[in-house]
Amino acid sequence: MGAGLVGERIAGYQVECELGRGGMAVVYRARDLRLERTVALKLLTPDMVRNDTFRRRFAHEQRAAAALDHPHIVPIFEAGETEGVLYIAMRYVPGLDLRALLDRDGPLPVATAVRIAAQVASALDAAHEHDLVHRDVKPGNVLVARGTDSDHPEHVYLTDFGLTKKSLSLTGLTSVGEFVGTLDYVAPEQIAGRPVDGRCDLYSLACVVYETLAGGPPFQRDDSMELLWAHQYDQPPALSERRPGTPAEMDEVVARALAKVPEDRYDSCLDFVAALRRSARDAEREPKSEADTHPPTQVDRAVGPLPHPPQWARPVFDRRPGR
Ligand SMILES: Nc1ncnc2c1ncn2[C@@H]1O[C@H](COP(=O)(O)OP(=O)(O)OP(=O)(O)O)[C@@H](O)[C@H]1O
Ligand SMILES: [Mg+2]
Repeated sequence: MGAGLVGERIAGYQVECELGRGGMAVVYRARDLRLERTVALKLLTPDMVRNDTFRRRFAHEQRAAAALDHPHIVPIFEAGETEGVLYIAMRYVPGLDLRALLDRDGPLPVATAVRIAAQVASALDAAHEHDLVHRDVKPGNVLVARGTDSDHPEHVYLTDFGLTKKSLSLTGLTSVGEFVGTLDYVAPEQIAGRPVDGRCDLYSLACVVYETLAGGPPFQRDDSMELLWAHQYDQPPALSERRPGTPAEMDEVVARALAKVPEDRYDSCLDFVAALRRSARDAEREPKSEADTHPPTQVDRAVGPLPHPPQWARPVFDRRPGR
C-alpha cells in the first residue's frame, strides 16, 4: 500500500492521489469509472483484512453505517472486498478535516466551534436513534467542507461510522496497550470495557469541543496509560483555565458533558450543544467584568466507588504510588 497505488484500478475505481492515512487505512481520491464521479476510496490495511472477526464486523457495520442517510454523515456508496483488499467508497469531501484545521488555525471562535459541534451532534443523535454508536469521534473524523452561504460558512460531515477500531480490543485484535490511534477522546466507560451507548460519543464530542475552544484536548499526559487514568478518574481542567474569558456557564456545560458517569451527562448530543450555545449567548448578552464573575461552580461530581481497573489497564494502576 502507499503511493504505489496511485494510477491503479481497484474494483472499478481509478486511484488518483492520497488524501490521508490513519491507523488502519489509507484514503485516496479516486474516480468511479462506472458513474464517472470523484469519490474517496478508503483501503483498509492488510492486517485488518486478515482478521476474520474484523471482516465479519466490517461487513455488518458498513451495512449499518450505509443505512444512515443524514446531511452531516458522509454517505457510503459501496463497501466490499477485492483481491484481498477491503475498501469503502464514499462521498469525496473537499476541504480539511478538523484535525488539520485546528493544527493550522489553533483554537476557533466560539461561534464557529458551536456551529461545527451542532452539525456533528445532529449526525450523532441520528445515528444513536438507529442504535449505532460511533465510538471514534475525534477531529480527524470530522470533515469540514465549505458551506452554502455566509450564515452557514461550513458544512461538516462526520465519517468513519462502523469502523469501530476502539472496540476491536474487545474482539481480541488488539491486546494490552496496543490501542491504535489517539486516546484523547475516549470515554471512561469505553476504557473500562463497560457497555457503551450514545453517551460515549457525547463524551468524545465534548473532548472535541473542548479542543476546538482551548487548543488542546481536556487531558494531556505523556504516557497513554496516564491518559486513560485521567479520563477515568481525573477532573478535567475548567475550560476557562485554558481559554480565559470563558463564561462560568460554559465551564459547567462542558464539565457536565465530560462527566465520568454517562447518566450525569446530557441526554443527547444536541442537548449538549443547545446548552453550549445558550451559555455563549448569555455571556454575550450580559458581559461581566472580571470582578463580577464568580468562580466556576464546583461541578466535580462524586463518581461513586472507583470500579476495579480492567485487567489490561493494570500497569498504570500498579505504577501509581500506594496501589
Ligand atoms: N470522504 C472523504 N473525503 C475527503 N477526505 C477524506 C475522506 N475520508 C477521509 N479523508 C481524509 O483522509 C484522512 C485519513 O482518514 P482515516 O480515517 O484513514 O484516518 P484518521 O481518521 O485520521 O485516523 P483513524 O485511522 O484513527 O480513523 C482523514 O483525516 C481525511 O483528511
Ligand atoms: Mg478516520
